[in-house]
Amino acid sequence: MRLLVFGGSVFLSRTVAQQALQRGYDVTCASRGVSGSPPEGARHVTLDRDDPDAMASLRGERFDAVIDVARRPSQVRHALRALSDRVGHWTFVSTGSVYADTATPGQRVDSAPLLPPAPPDADESDIGLYGQLKVSCEQVVAAARGDDAFVVRAGLIGGPHDVGDRFSYWPLRLARGGEVLAPGAPEDDVQVIDVRDLSAWLLDGAAQRLTGTYDGVGEVTPFGRLLERVAAGVGAHSHLTWVDQEFLVGHKVEPYMGERSLPMWLPLPEYAGWSSRDASSAYAAGLRCRDLAETARDTLAWERDSGREHPVNAGLTEAEEAELLAAWHERQGEPGS
Ligand SMILES: NC(=O)c1ccc[n+]([C@@H]2O[C@H](COP(=O)([O-])OP(=O)(O)OC[C@H]3O[C@@H](n4cnc5c(N)ncnc54)[C@H](OP(=O)(O)O)[C@@H]3O)[C@@H](O)[C@H]2O)c1
Repeated sequence: MRLLVFGGSVFLSRTVAQQALQRGYDVTCASRGVSGSPPEGARHVTLDRDDPDAMASLRGERFDAVIDVARRPSQVRHALRALSDRVGHWTFVSTGSVYADTATPGQRVDSAPLLPPAPPDADESDIGLYGQLKVSCEQVVAAARGDDAFVVRAGLIGGPHDVGDRFSYWPLRLARGGEVLAPGAPEDDVQVIDVRDLSAWLLDGAAQRLTGTYDGVGEVTPFGRLLERVAAGVGAHSHLTWVDQEFLVGHKVEPYMGERSLPMWLPLPEYAGWSSRDASSAYAAGLRCRDLAETARDTLAWERDSGREHPVNAGLTEAEEAELLAAWHERQGEPGS
């Protein structure tokens, strides 16, 4: 298999390239080279996809499959224009952020409404337009390939090499031990997929020439169960204190990501649909999800090896968590633990 991976140097696309090499594929990674290098053994073509002529670096080449993780419609358009008729199978990695309705639980890929595409003159670097830009990217893929493309709308991805910290916060926090502030209620649903499982399925899809649009998400899991699996994976014996949503909102804790946040927590009922997608069509098409204890264990090992400071992109600092727990216990009329 001659595979072209756009990116290949950071997280999902890097994992795809790594696994493809392990499968014995001939792997080319195309990126600017500013976020790191592709895995050893891959050929690296240096190009900037914001340059409309970037694809000239791949002129005349043929690939059995392409995997693209772009966020900008113009990049997707240029790639398809230059390469589509010289590529057997095309995968586009999209996102659950394309969906318009975040509130209704159990939505399916074939019936869930989408956001409108981004306006044609939109600033493609505007992170506030992320979901709409991905809708536009999907439309560009459909215009070029018709039904002959594999479009995977990823949900929250966790695992080694994640620099977003949304899942990683939990293995790191539980491994530190002590009293842990857990957000919302143990029965609230979350959904996270191990980057290696998503990546393996993308490669299986390319090998089997799978087409169609799917949600690439983990199994719907109650938050309490997720933290139990994380604790099992990192060998932690922490004590969880569940703090309700109203208190967190009142104390200006951000949901999901960013500074002073509780990763993976989302306000309900507004986001009850975000982490409860019915991905049965993806599972029927071969997506398999490992025990999240393994994801937690390997994420922690990678974080420790990487020497990164924490929290970086998401989560509470130790001081913020301690202050919030003290205020919570005071409100409950309880002594702190
Ligand atoms: N992470 C999540 O939880 C999550 C959730 C839902 C959906 N997704 C989707 O999953 C996909 C993977 O996301 P990721 O964050 O894991 O990506 P990633 O693997 O980090 O890939 C980004 C790659 O694109 C390259 N790149 C960026 N700008 C470029 C440019 N102008 N020209 C050429 N190459 C460029 C980067 O290398 P250089 O910077 O060196 O160029 C890097 O290798 C995305 O499609 C995202 O929308 C992710």
